[in-house]
Amino acid sequence: MSKFVINGGKILSGEVNISGAKNSALKLIAASILADKKITLSNVPIIEDVNTMVKVLRILGAKVSLDEKNGKILIDPSSIDSFEAPYELVRKMRASILVAGPLLSKFGSVKVAIPGGCNIGSRQIDLHLKGFEFMGTKNSLEHGYVHAKATAKKLKGAVIDLDFPSRGATENIMMAACLAKGKTVINNAAREPEIADLSNFLVSMGADIQGAGTDCIIINGVKKLSGTNYKIMPDSIEAGTFITAAALCGKEVKVNGAVSKNLDLFLLKLKEIGINIDIIDNNTIIIKENGAFNPVHISTLPYPGFPTDLQPIIAVLLSIISGVSIITENVFENRFMYVDELNRMGANIKIDGHHAIITGVGKLSGAPVSACDLRAGAAMVLAGLAAEGITEVLGIHHIQRGYENFDKKLSLLGADIKKE
Ligand code: UD1
Repeated sequence: MSKFVINGGKILSGEVNISGAKNSALKLIAASILADKKITLSNVPIIEDVNTMVKVLRILGAKVSLDEKNGKILIDPSSIDSFEAPYELVRKMRASILVAGPLLSKFGSVKVAIPGGCNIGSRQIDLHLKGFEFMGTKNSLEHGYVHAKATAKKLKGAVIDLDFPSRGATENIMMAACLAKGKTVINNAAREPEIADLSNFLVSMGADIQGAGTDCIIINGVKKLSGTNYKIMPDSIEAGTFITAAALCGKEVKVNGAVSKNLDLFLLKLKEIGINIDIIDNNTIIIKENGAFNPVHISTLPYPGFPTDLQPIIAVLLSIISGVSIITENVFENRFMYVDELNRMGANIKIDGHHAIITGVGKLSGAPVSACDLRAGAAMVLAGLAAEGITEVLGIHHIQRGYENFDKKLSLLGADIKKE
C-alpha cells in the first residue's frame, strides 16, 4: 500500500496550476450520454474518480478515449446499449449514480446500485428518486438496486421542490429534464458553480436551461442534443487546498486557476484569520507571508456557504492558531473522522455533536496517520507539511481519487514529500 512521506517545516514558494474541477468533470462525462454525436472535453483532471466514471460509461457501451497527456476525453455515446450502473463501481464512487438522469432522459430506463453510506456519513438518494418519480418514472428496489422506468415513452416535465439543495439531485434532475417532454422547474436547487458549468455544457449541446447557479432552474425539454467541445472549469476545492497550504507554510505562492468568485466565503474567512490574500484577477490569487493569525468560527453550508469539502483542510490551519476556533458541520453527519488522526499529531480538537472545538496548539508534530477520505487525506498532507519531523500518510488512494499530481505539485513549491 503506498503512502506519502513528508518531512515537514519546508517553506513553500512559487506557482501552482489548478487542474480541472473533479466535481464538474464527473458530471460532464455522465451528461455526455445525452448527446447523439461525439463529445470532446478538455482540462480533464487525471484522477482516479475520472477513471471510474470512464469505466461506468464503457460498461454502458459508450466508446471513450482518455488522452492523459493532454487532459482530454473523447466520448462517443451512440453505441450505448446497457442501462445499468453496477455496484462494484457505485461502491467505489457514488457519483456513478449521476448516469441515472441522462439514461432515463434518453432511454427511459435505468438500473443503478444504491450507494449506501460512506466515510463521511449516510448519503441517501431519496431526493434524486423523488425527482424522477415526479417526472413520470416508477421506481422499484430489488437486490440492492433501484430500477427506475418511465411509464410513458418519454419523461415529462414537472415542478420539483427539493427538501434540501442537494447537488447530486439537482444535477440528476436537470439532466433528466433535458430530453423530457415539456418544462421542468427545480426549486431550492443547489447553486454551486459546477451546476452552472454543467448547464453551460448542456446548453452548448443544444439544451434549453435557464437559472443554473440560482435556486430556481428551468429546463424546457428538447428533442435531441448534439456533440460539442467543452473546457471544464478549474477546481475550487483544489485551489482552496493549495491556498491553505500556502497560508500554513508559504512565503509567496501564486495559485493559477483560483477563481475568487467561486471561493467568496472561504477567502473571507481566511482574511478574518489574518491571511495575506492578493486577488490578482478572476483566475489568480497570491498568498503572501503572514503575521499574526486569529481564531475564527466557521459553519459549513451549501454554496454560497462555506464548503464542507474545505472543512477538514481549514481545520489544520485552525489547529495551530492560538485561541479557540469552532467549526460547525451542517452538510454531512460524519465529517470529523480525521480529528483523531490530527490529534495524534498534537492538535487539541474536541467533538461535540456536529461542532469541533479547536484549541490552537502552535505546532504539530509529525506522526504516521491515515487518510480516511479524500479531503481528510489532503488535510493530513497539509498537517504533515506544517509539522515538525516526519509524517507518513497512509491510505493515499483516497487522495488520488480527487487530486491530480498532488505530491508533484507540492514538491514543485518546495515541499519535501515522497510517494513510497
Ligand atoms: C457533492 C460533492 C461532494 C460535496 C457535496 C456537498 C460531487 C461528486 N460530490 O456530493 O464533494 O461534499 O456535494 O457539497 O460533486 N442528501 C439526501 N438525499 C439525497 C441527496 C442528498 O438526504 O437524495 C443529503 C446527503 O446525505 C448530504 C447532503 O444531502 O447530507 C448533501 O448531499 P449532496 O449535495 O447531494 O452531495 P453530493 O452531490 O453527493
